[in-house]
Amino acid sequence: MVYHSVSEVDFSRSSLPALPLPRKVLLTTPAHFNVEYVINPHMEGHIGSVDLEAARQQWRQLRDTYSEIGIQVASMEGQEGLPDMVFCANQSLPAVHPKTGEKRLVLSRMYAEQRRGEVPHYRSFFEREGYNVLELTSTESFFEGMGDALWHPRRHLLWGGYGMRTEASAYDAISRGLDVAVCALHLEDPDFYHLDTCLSMLNETTALYFPGAFDEKGRALLERLFDTLIEADEQEARDLFAVNAHCPDEQHVIIQEGCEKTSRRLADAGFEPIPVDTSEFLKAGGSVFCMKLMYW
Ligand code: ARG
Repeated sequence: MVYHSVSEVDFSRSSLPALPLPRKVLLTTPAHFNVEYVINPHMEGHIGSVDLEAARQQWRQLRDTYSEIGIQVASMEGQEGLPDMVFCANQSLPAVHPKTGEKRLVLSRMYAEQRRGEVPHYRSFFEREGYNVLELTSTESFFEGMGDALWHPRRHLLWGGYGMRTEASAYDAISRGLDVAVCALHLEDPDFYHLDTCLSMLNETTALYFPGAFDEKGRALLERLFDTLIEADEQEARDLFAVNAHCPDEQHVIIQEGCEKTSRRLADAGFEPIPVDTSEFLKAGGSVFCMKLMYW
């Protein structure tokens, strides 16, 4: 079932099947990272401007940060001719069945033609990890993986952004294919073109978000299913991808440095912000959350 408004919600959060937190993270090296085309507003004016040595350094800092907080890191080699492949949140959605433990991978149907060649590399990686692949064959809808589809921490519930890259109809197929409830959120502002730019779930009850990226119905769904919503500072969310922060363990929040106001709000709520520099990747419209993929 796909839920578009609060009036349709016929479950409580605690009634949903439990889902273990994923403990592994995949990162793709920035070996061939650059800005070579413009497919989101943040890339404007940045073609050819990436300092690759700085990008490599920032990527290593991110990788080491995950290791230091106890997350198991795997890395994949970026491929020539695929300058956005470093953003490994987008090519797929890993899933685990709450009862059988079967591991499944929904493959993306990338909106951006330039990025379609990235998907088979992720398919191979996850087949080696024992995942069964689910292709969106019953629909022609675009779907951009964990850029737009995010697991509710500890619950078998998917949050699905649509309207910029992913199409709403993709969630009908995913909900059926994975036998999971999906809360669909319409994205309203091109600066927030993926759900992971305006919603970051911190634990089962708390999320960081930028409310202006959603419509009334979306905000009401979020208010219904979270006890606490921390609002990111608008300038930090737009210019520094403050909401593209990532909390892998319900405690640490890895976030672009300089997001002072947002970090203070996170700390006041009991979280521990860890600032990292992703400035080279911001030129392509991505930061921490886009640069990783959590899996089981
Ligand atoms: N240049 C990439 C694109 O526009 C950036 C992707 C960022 N990823 C994300 N999950 N928001 O597709």
